[in-house]
Amino acid sequence: MSETAPDSADGNVDSNVATGTGDNSFVVVANRLPVDMIIESDGTKSWQESPGGLVSALSPVLEKHQGCWVGWPGVTDEAPEPFRTERGVLLHPVELTQHDFEEFYEGFSNATLWPLYHNLIVTPEFNRSWWDAYRDVNLRFATDVATVAAPGATVWVQDYQLQLVPGILRQLRPDLTIGFFLHIPFPPPEIYRQLPWRNEMLRGLLDADLIGFHLASNLRNFVELCRGYDMEVSGEIKVREAGITITLPNGHSLGVGVFPISIDTSAIAATLAADTHHESHGELEQMHHNMGSPSTVFLGVDRLDYTKGILQRLLAFEELLDSGALDPKEVALVQLATPSRERIDSYRTTRSNVEEAVGRINGRFSQIGRPVVHYQHRSVTKDVLMRYYRLADVMLVTPFRDGMNLVAKEFVATRADSSGALVLSEFAGAADELTQAHLCNPFDIEDIKKAMLQATWGLKNNPEAMKERMSAMYNQVMEHDVDLWANAFLGALGVLEQKHSV
Ligand code: ADP
Ligand code: G6P
Repeated sequence: MSETAPDSADGNVDSNVATGTGDNSFVVVANRLPVDMIIESDGTKSWQESPGGLVSALSPVLEKHQGCWVGWPGVTDEAPEPFRTERGVLLHPVELTQHDFEEFYEGFSNATLWPLYHNLIVTPEFNRSWWDAYRDVNLRFATDVATVAAPGATVWVQDYQLQLVPGILRQLRPDLTIGFFLHIPFPPPEIYRQLPWRNEMLRGLLDADLIGFHLASNLRNFVELCRGYDMEVSGEIKVREAGITITLPNGHSLGVGVFPISIDTSAIAATLAADTHHESHGELEQMHHNMGSPSTVFLGVDRLDYTKGILQRLLAFEELLDSGALDPKEVALVQLATPSRERIDSYRTTRSNVEEAVGRINGRFSQIGRPVVHYQHRSVTKDVLMRYYRLADVMLVTPFRDGMNLVAKEFVATRADSSGALVLSEFAGAADELTQAHLCNPFDIEDIKKAMLQATWGLKNNPEAMKERMSAMYNQVMEHDVDLWANAFLGALGVLEQKHSV
């Protein structure tokens, strides 16, 4: 296929909007702020950490750089004034109406782009009015960024919800340096091309100075797509560098690179140290006792999303109990599932299937007072999450497709003693780095079962080999933390030395 690159990012931009009135030299813009506003029934308002890996990864980066974060406060029709967090990050809320929430967020972002970019695990819906909302909301985000960014500032745009922002910003504020990072996979060109608005979307992205992906495979898909248009592509794929340059017919050129995201290892180490210091071992033992003192604890921690393969891991567990390969008196599976995008049909169906499976498995294999599956459809605090990680013998991370998956890395980071095992989908981005995990094909229940049994068997019968595997993964995660990710991206954007030295 050969197409001509569309030559205008967005015709609706009013070039009189805001020209460098802000004083923030480093601005991150993401659909969500790092905190969601909670409104109680009596009208009381408070804030809590918002869900997802993007927030987990970017929060420490923004704190380090004392940047400004532009994003949605998580509730509709609310526009709180900008405020600074205790850790020095300036939050600049963007208001979304109920209509925006339904058409931009639930619709175009999460019922069109999310399934399209995750290789059609469910069928994307293409709806023209959702696209209009997506354009309107991207324009609003870009306009807000244009008002808060200082002259010559660096703006780092995040994720699939805001792919038109680089193009709009380039028109509003040609003085800015603009980076874009995609936190989810970029699909093969033949899938991307299904998008009716593919030209405008791609054009919006290409006005960035640098685009980052987690994996070389994502980048290859993107470059192959660009080659189908009349663009020049030069260079080679490099990790943590902008190895490839794309030049548009209008002369604009941008870098493209692989930047695998990671976790805040020092924050995890500090939480673990504080927990140990406060002698919370008693609490760990109590948690283990509350589970019925199983000899093997399997753990899943995910947003309740159909991409995560939660049902399939439950089915694998059920079959292992059924066949007698696992003894229900000896094992327990803990599944922590954060509520996510709850009104979208595919999410409702996933939740209902997962909860039905939990009920059925417990009905078949539990004893009164001693469930074999412990399921919680709520978020837990980071401290509590760390305790679950520490309690687990075998961590189950089995997504059908996942940009990276930070849960896998967080679990590994709690294993300074090299204990435990990780069952990991080969379709999680993390599998490129955590090669010592027990890898499995999440579409193949037999393969998930095999990986679960190999991990359990290995821990009992071959502890030294298991320690070697975990130790290799632990070192990998420790040496490639979120600071490395952010510094590599900002370095490749050419701004780190000048403006934001860490
Ligand atoms: P995604 O971004 O798709 O949600 P990731 O695995 O990359 O997936 O990131 C999820 C983040 O959310 C991790 O930092 C993890 O600690 C956090 N998280 C997931 N589930 C829970 C939960 N039940 N309670 C608290 N935090 C959670
Ligand atoms: C993933 C996406 C993020 C998103 C997060 C939580 O990590 O890459 O962009 O913020 O999931 O999803 P939500 O729809 O609740 O923001």
